[in-house]
Amino acid sequence: MSQDIRLDVSYAEKFVTEPEAEGMKPVVLAAQKTLLEKTGPGAEFTGWVNLPETYDREEFSRIKKAAEKIRDESRILVVTGVGGSYLGARAAIEFLSKGRGESGLRVLYAGSSLNPDQMNDLLDELEGTDFSVNIISKSGTTTEPAIAFRILKALLEERYGKKGAADRIYATTDKKKGTLKELADAEGYETFVVPDDIGGRYSVLSAVGLLPIASAGGDIDALMQGAGRMAEICQSDDPEKNPALLYALYRCALEKKGMEVEVLSNYDANLHQICEWWKQLFGESLGKEHQGLFPAGMDLTTDLHSMGQYIQDGRRNLIETVLDVKNAGRDIRVPEVPGNADGLQYLNGRSLNEINHKAMEGSIIAHAEGGVPVMRIELDRRDEDSLGQLFCFFEYACGICGYANGVNPFDQPGVEFYKRNMFRLLGKPGYENK
Ligand code: PA5
Repeated sequence: MSQDIRLDVSYAEKFVTEPEAEGMKPVVLAAQKTLLEKTGPGAEFTGWVNLPETYDREEFSRIKKAAEKIRDESRILVVTGVGGSYLGARAAIEFLSKGRGESGLRVLYAGSSLNPDQMNDLLDELEGTDFSVNIISKSGTTTEPAIAFRILKALLEERYGKKGAADRIYATTDKKKGTLKELADAEGYETFVVPDDIGGRYSVLSAVGLLPIASAGGDIDALMQGAGRMAEICQSDDPEKNPALLYALYRCALEKKGMEVEVLSNYDANLHQICEWWKQLFGESLGKEHQGLFPAGMDLTTDLHSMGQYIQDGRRNLIETVLDVKNAGRDIRVPEVPGNADGLQYLNGRSLNEINHKAMEGSIIAHAEGGVPVMRIELDRRDEDSLGQLFCFFEYACGICGYANGVNPFDQPGVEFYKRNMFRLLGKPGYENK
């Protein structure tokens, strides 16, 4: 079991005065109460709040069995979905350094774009390799995954026959309704449920995330344990004991002071997809009624050599939140060599994890001195327990921020606008005059 995650706000404190923090406290406490008591707008989509406790145990063991079967039968699993139906699984699998073939199974992704080259590249990868497909769509009608699934289904049927294909397709969708559910029932696919009371971007700890994570070899028991512990911590009304509340308090106070952008930085490329998942969670939940911090991500130290200049010295409208994983999965030391031809003698024999952390500390100090409020989320290590905590921490913080801003953090009316135009341009029946 990993240590519980912590939030360090010492480099943000000087940007929020005591009266400002005190003034924001009752606002976030009221927002937390609304979330926990399920009395706010969108309350019918807050099933994720209790999920680590209430999840369906029967389905959970079915997920483990299906994961084993997928690993036994296939060398590749194609996770097919978009937005909340894909980002969490990918974030988890990459965070855990899984899905690259070490457990015998590679995980590839489809249905998150409409790009034909990407689809063709995937089909090339599948050539001559046994594969299974997990199609994930709550509505069952989302264009990108629906098209990708049609292509993958045809390939499976051509290769394994209709029955053999059905045996390799796993559908994660609504319990009762929708096109995908109907198709799955008609064709005999094994199905898993996106719970009615959980929207896509809050669904990673349901079958949506769990089946791909377990298939990739992730320990989903430990994941749920970590999430369960964090969910308990998130019940506290003391920001000193509840990091989600403290994070929400600072974010909201800083937004109120005119900050417009939040950059989530990582110092480990395995967290890149966590930033992508977080961007959706916070962007789609809070970007409403002309409010919300614009969520951006940075991979450091890489981006210090590109975006570092802007962070240090550009417009002073941004805050930074750093994901700090204390222990590297596999550390390595700088080789000890005589002399100082490359100017690195002072680093002889030092651990790369230590050097990376010194770069992190140096950047945090520099950014804060340059006028950027910095918060740091500290994780023990990249394991399932820490990951479960992290998912839960961000989901609670996001729900609290939404209610504190007076918006519904569980809907996404804005994403319908582009679809209307796209469907009209593609000639979809019913959209002629939209
Ligand atoms: O968070 C959300 O609600 C969205 O990102 C959806 O997950 C995404 O649009 C995919 O929807 P569906 O699962 O219905 O295909």
